[in-house]
Amino acid sequence: MLMPEEGEFTSCEIVLQLLASSHRLMQHSKPYSEQVKLVQLIIGMSGASGVIYGIRLLQVLQQDSSIETHLVMSDSAKLNIAVETEFSSKDVQAMADHVHSNKDIGATIASGSFRSDGMIIAPCSIKTLSAVANCYADSLIVRAADVMLKERRRLVLVPRETPLHTGHCELLLRASQNGAILAPPMPAHYIKPQSVEELVDHHVGRVLDLFDIDPGLVKRWQGTRENANNE
Ligand SMILES: Cc1cc2nc3c(=O)[nH]c(=O)nc-3n(C[C@H](O)[C@H](O)[C@H](O)COP(=O)(O)O)c2cc1C
Repeated sequence: MLMPEEGEFTSCEIVLQLLASSHRLMQHSKPYSEQVKLVQLIIGMSGASGVIYGIRLLQVLQQDSSIETHLVMSDSAKLNIAVETEFSSKDVQAMADHVHSNKDIGATIASGSFRSDGMIIAPCSIKTLSAVANCYADSLIVRAADVMLKERRRLVLVPRETPLHTGHCELLLRASQNGAILAPPMPAHYIKPQSVEELVDHHVGRVLDLFDIDPGLVKRWQGTRENANNE
C-alpha cells in the first residue's frame, strides 16, 4: 500500500476538506429556489376621486414582508387625500417602502433596467389615463407606467370618472391596446356589501388577483345555487 509522504493528503482527508468547504458555501448561498424573492410593486396615485383605493392597496401590501412598494403621488392625489380621507399625505407615504417625487424623472423606477413586477395606478384620473395612453411621460407616474408597457410588464389602471364621453372611451381603448389592464372601481353588488369599506376591499383584492397576490379580501363567487335566496 502506498503511504502518503509528508505534506501530502490522504484521499479521506481530501474528501473531508471538500465536504467542509461545500458546507461553508451552503451556509453563505442558498440555492436559487430557496432565495426569498421580493416582489417589487409600483403604486401610482393620481387626482381622481377614490384615493382610498390606493391607500388600502398600500395598507394591505404593507402586511406582506415579501412585497416592496414604490409610491408616487401626483399633487392632485395629495389634494384628494385631504378632501376625501382622514389621512395626511405623509401618513400615506409612511405606508410605502419607498417614496418617489412625481417630478423625479431620474428615479430608479423610471428605467426599464429596474426590476419590478408591475404597477398599479389607483385611482387613475382621466388626465393621467390620457398621458399613459399617449405615452406623454413628463411625470414619474406616467414614465414608470410607460416603462411597464414597453417592458411588457403588468400595468393595472383604476380609472375613475363618470359619465364618460367618447374621448374618455377612446383613451381607455388606446391604453388597453397598448397593454394596460383596466380595472375601474365598479362595485360588486353580488357580495351584498354592508359598507363602503367592504366594496373598496373587494376591489383592491380583485386588483391584487391580477398579480397573483391574495390577502383574502375577495368574497369569491360560490355559484348561483349558493347565492340565490328565492328558492
Ligand atoms: C375633489 C376632486 C375630485 C376629482 N375627481 C376626479 C375624478 O374622479 N376623475 C378625474 O379624472 N379627475 C378628477 N378630478 C380632477 C383631477 O384631479 C385633475 O384633472 C388633475 O389635474 C389630475 O391630475 P393628475 O392626473 O396629475 O393627478 C378631481 C379633482 C378634485 C379636486
